[in-house]
Amino acid sequence: MSEPKKLFIKTYGCQMNVYDSERMAEALGGQGYVEAKSADDADMILLNTCHIREKAAEKVYSELGRFKGLKAEKPDLKIGVAGCVAQAEGEEIMRRQPLVDLVVGPQSYHRLPEMEAKTREGEKALDTDFPEEDKFEKLKNRPKAKRGPTAFLTVQEGCDKFCAFCVVPYTRGAEVSRPADRIIHEAQDLVERGVREITLLGQNVNAYHGAGPNGDMTLAGLIWELNKIDGLERIRFTTSHPNDMSDDLIEAHGTCDKLMPYLHLPVQSGSDRILKRMNRSHTAESYLRLIERIREARPDILMSGDFIVGFPEETDEDFQATLNLVEQVKYGYAYSFKYSTRPGTPAAERPQVEPEVADDRLQRLQAMITQHQREIQDSMVGRTVRVLFEKPGRLAGQMVGKSEYLHAVHVTNADVATGDLRAVKITGSGANSLAGELI
Ligand code: 5AD
Ligand code: SF4
Repeated sequence: MSEPKKLFIKTYGCQMNVYDSERMAEALGGQGYVEAKSADDADMILLNTCHIREKAAEKVYSELGRFKGLKAEKPDLKIGVAGCVAQAEGEEIMRRQPLVDLVVGPQSYHRLPEMEAKTREGEKALDTDFPEEDKFEKLKNRPKAKRGPTAFLTVQEGCDKFCAFCVVPYTRGAEVSRPADRIIHEAQDLVERGVREITLLGQNVNAYHGAGPNGDMTLAGLIWELNKIDGLERIRFTTSHPNDMSDDLIEAHGTCDKLMPYLHLPVQSGSDRILKRMNRSHTAESYLRLIERIREARPDILMSGDFIVGFPEETDEDFQATLNLVEQVKYGYAYSFKYSTRPGTPAAERPQVEPEVADDRLQRLQAMITQHQREIQDSMVGRTVRVLFEKPGRLAGQMVGKSEYLHAVHVTNADVATGDLRAVKITGSGANSLAGELI
């Protein structure tokens, strides 16, 4: 019998890519591929790429360059580019880097098996369509292998918001929601395989409106359905847009026991002038009011957000408004980025902020965020949280898991196994994690 072929997937970017990579591995599993431990060991390498900022896209080309030697040693090695760079640049990738055999956009993963077969015939394969058929329906069911305690599950893809800086509406296409029964079925299957926490994914996840038994279902409706699954202990979702934070979803944060008290709700800027230029269609004030309502429903909720600094025409005053907003919200986590010009988006044509000014703002914003993050983390000391243990820690006898607020928590010399959900008293707060003891 011949050796099975080996597949190595390297994933960049967001959690949706992590999910997609798993599904691509399953699709190619049907072609006899097993996982390779490293690129050196592979018969096929797939880069699942991110196009959100320029740096992310450029990484792909430098990574591809590094495969030249490998391909020379192993002429049968196939190299593919998937994800958002594939979608955005298509054939250009093969022109720029001729060693690439396959380019597949995020809506076409179900066609991977045929595409792989084509490359084995010595041809190049390219597919960046937005096909009518649903890739998730066509992908094979996940094999019944045991899994770790946490999993991602994509429920919605694409975005119709067209923020002026963002490539997602172009690379991932229009907003599409998967039917509720498919998602519930997939969640049940994950739980049967050991998953206890599911994070529902979508570029605009709270705009979810998938077909349900009585017409379209909201995200809150879907969460309530998932809440019924025995053995599923925790539900999270990401990423949300402030304008789609519906009343039933806010309410669910107060009433749905499996929905965790953590919400990623990007605002991008605290300046109304910039928000308008970003085409965000909300104001700083409306965002703050929204958070107030969410906190009324669930007072201990931990907020997380995204920010862009140095957006075209951002003044010191605009930036100060962002700092003011951050000061008011106090995020438990927040991700801040320097504006990166994305060709084809409306903001790309506008007067840019000096890079040194943007760098300086980024540093100041990150310092403030880090301070709040630390304060919130430190305030957990003495409290009891519930930790879902995910894996052994780096030190001997240590286990690490996540609290309901998504803080990493370590315990040592305790009788816990991966997948256990246990009450833990927090005894210490470190740079990026908490320490605790079982109670
Ligand atoms: N430049 C910088 N940051 C960006 N983001 C999206 N597009 C850009 C861009 N062109 C950030 C936003 C978004 C997060 C995923 O990435 O903050 O919420
Ligand atoms: Fe991009 Fe999010 Fe705006 Fe959609 S809502 S365009 S994904 S930043």
